Amino acid sequence: MVRVAPSLLAANFSNLAWEIAKVENGGASWLHYDVMDGHFVPNISFGYSILNDVRKVTSLTLDVHLMVENPNEFVEKFIANGADYITFHIESMTNERQIARLIDYLHIKGVKAGLSIKPSTPVDAIKPYLNKLDLVLVMSVEPGFGGQAFNPVALEKIELLAKLKKEKGYKYIIEVDGGINGQTIDSVKKAGVEMVVAGSYIFGSDNYQQAIESLK
Ligand code: DX5
Ligand code: ZN
Repeated sequence: MVRVAPSLLAANFSNLAWEIAKVENGGASWLHYDVMDGHFVPNISFGYSILNDVRKVTSLTLDVHLMVENPNEFVEKFIANGADYITFHIESMTNERQIARLIDYLHIKGVKAGLSIKPSTPVDAIKPYLNKLDLVLVMSVEPGFGGQAFNPVALEKIELLAKLKKEKGYKYIIEVDGGINGQTIDSVKKAGVEMVVAGSYIFGSDNYQQAIESLK
């Protein structure tokens, strides 16, 4: 059984509290919060002030996915405004020591730390950090937009992460993000995923509870 993190990116922003209540009552475990800066990805979403409002209306774990060019500059604000997990992209970091330092910083601040890889980035790129991580986010679409088609390149990465986790006793949660729906869910489950992000599949459905349950 996997857990489900609806991606707020696909929600109706004019009715956010209601949208959140519906997924919370519908069996969501986490709320996935996509932050885009228009530089790391060619799109802009929302920032930490909306996270603060979201924090006030839900007790769900807030899973912040930073798609920004310089995560170091922003983590403080997201921590202060209610993030439980903060995941940044390996591709947004230039210096290895900086990556380890940011993970340690999140832990010092009492926040869980995640690293994400784009479809073109291999698991090898994050291997040195796996022992420190609480979450690994495998992108199954190019980050930037909801509603894209699932890229099966994610499957072998999930399998490898599950294998390494078992072999080495790592504690990270394996999460997949992008193109998850009733058709693609079985393949990621089979590969060993533990948390699935889904945006358009849930918020585009008539019944959020049914959509969430169908992924579990
Ligand atoms: C894409 C985001 C995803 C997005 C997923 O850059 O990271 O979280 O909301 O949307 P769907 O589920 O519609 O592919
Ligand atoms: Zn995301």
